[in-house]
Amino acid sequence: MRIDIITVLPELLQGPINHSILKRAQDKGLVEIHIHNLRDYTSNKHRRVDDYPFGGQAGMVMQIEPIDNCISKLKSERDYDDVIFMTPDGKRFDQKDANSLSMSKNLIILCGHYKGIDFRVREHLITKEISIGDYVLTGGELPAAIVTDAIVRLIPGAIGDEQSALSDSFQDDLLDAPIYSRPADYKGWKVPEVLLSGHERKIREWEHEQAVERTKKLRPDLLK
Ligand code: ADE
Repeated sequence: MRIDIITVLPELLQGPINHSILKRAQDKGLVEIHIHNLRDYTSNKHRRVDDYPFGGQAGMVMQIEPIDNCISKLKSERDYDDVIFMTPDGKRFDQKDANSLSMSKNLIILCGHYKGIDFRVREHLITKEISIGDYVLTGGELPAAIVTDAIVRLIPGAIGDEQSALSDSFQDDLLDAPIYSRPADYKGWKVPEVLLSGHERKIREWEHEQAVERTKKLRPDLLK
């Protein structure tokens, strides 16, 4: 899999992309992540990527030309499954979206900035618009890092134990059961007895009951 991220703030993405699981997945050759500085695709000497909006509103607008230059160059090199724009008015991202995007071969993710983006980018160049939640951030970089993380950890081999990605909260519309480690008794705070019983079937039943209970209590919307 290959992910190309287009941004005016490449430094903001370097941290999340080059550590932990995302770094390991790249080192293992499971994914290539390329970060492109939008300013490298401008044709003016000040490398400006924004301009005033037609109509006289306040704020600046990301211009279409550098974005089109960058996306066109990438598309001339390979085919892309999707060109994604990170925006608070996009489709709210969830685990199902992560699952389906993790099957892609090549993805472009465009990070928005300033007040907005020339709408022709969204009309002609973008195939999916994604929001990470109903709140507005200063730019699309952190959302792009979040979506990239959610996708890459699902690629087989990216996390040590494949079973653990499949058993994540949300994979089956249930939250996870509680999990514990040693010591079994810490200051009198005890681990549930059943987990120490060694009785595999009882443990799985207990986990399922707990998952249903926690989902009912914390996220009833997930139980259709
Ligand atoms: N850019 C700014 N806010 C955002 C959000 N909530 N989701 C995706 N991109 C964004």
